[in-house]
Formats: sequence, C-alpha cells, structure tokens
Amino acid sequence: MASAPTAPGTTDAAAGSSSATGTSAATGASDASAVSAPSASASAAVAGGATVAQAGGDGKSVYDKTCALCHAAGVAGAPKPGDKGDWSPRIAQGNDTLYKHAIEGFTGKKGVMPPRGGAVNLSDDEVKSAVDYMVSQSS
Ligand code: HEC
Repeated sequence: MASAPTAPGTTDAAAGSSSATGTSAATGASDASAVSAPSASASAAVAGGATVAQAGGDGKSVYDKTCALCHAAGVAGAPKPGDKGDWSPRIAQGNDTLYKHAIEGFTGKKGVMPPRGGAVNLSDDEVKSAVDYMVSQSS
C-alpha cells in the first residue's frame, strides 16, 4: 500500500517570529511614524511583516497549514505537488489563472477547489505564495 509521500511538517515557527524586534528598534527613532502610533504599528508589523519577512518560506507554510489537507494526498482529485502530469496542463494556463482559481475557487473535471482552500482569512498574497510553492514543486 502506498501511503502519502509527503508528510506536512510543523511550520508554526514561521508565525509571528521576529515582528517584535522591528517594533522596539523603531522606538525613539527620529522618524514621525514610530512616534505616532505604537499600538497601530504593532498590528501593522504583523500584517505587513508577515508577507515581507517570510517571503521565502510562507508559501510552504500556508500550503502545509491549509492546502496540504487536500493537495498532499490528492484528496477529492486535488493535484499533488510534484505530480507533473497533473500540474503541467494547469501550469500551462499561466499563473494568473492558477491564482484566480485558487482565490475564487474552481470546479474542474476532477473535483472542486474551494475559494482560498476554505481558509477565508488568507490574503491574496498568501494564497498566491502557496500556489507558487506548489508550482515550484511540480515544474
Ligand atoms: C478541500 C480540498 C482542497 C483544499 C483545502 C485546497 N484545494 Fe486546491 N484543489 C482541490 C481540487 C479537488 C482541485 C482540482 C480541481 C479539478 O481540477 O477538478 C484543486 C486545484 C487547485 C489548483 C489548480 C487550479 C487549476 O486551474 O487547475 C490550484 C492552483 C489550487 N488548487 C491551489 C490551492 C491552494 C493554494 C490551496 C490552499 C490555500 C488549496 N488549493 C487548497 C482541492 C483543494
């Protein structure tokens, strides 16, 4: 019996790791934005820092948390990362189509891809980075 080849690892470490550092470093600096809103900057650091600080790795982390549920084992017909036969015609559509299908949802011949993989709180960029991750594994 073949079992699922990829066991999604735990990648929780990526969440909120270094955002506090940036906030405290800004305190007392001469630029006005640091002074104006310490509390707002804390949430901005989380919202904005997440994409920037993790640009290299958050695609995998989004994938592991949300998309692997179906895509790792091909549940309901989801194309598995690394399955070039399944991915190549999809990749041929172009990234914009893949992003659109991932963000808005998509019903294909094999099954239903729910909008944002069902994780409605994901940003467009997070969904796109997870698509990029799967494409990078499959091309
Ligand atoms: C509930 C199961 C499920 C989850 C969770 C899920 N997908 Fe999918 N996804 C599917 C299925 C099924 C398909 C294949 C549909 C078909 O081709 O018939 C698919 C197809 C896709 C495609 C190919 C679309 C195309 O045009 O061929 C992309 C890209 C994609 N998913 C991205 C994602 C991303 C990114 C996530 C996580 C944010 C995700 N999926 C989470 C089930 C899922």
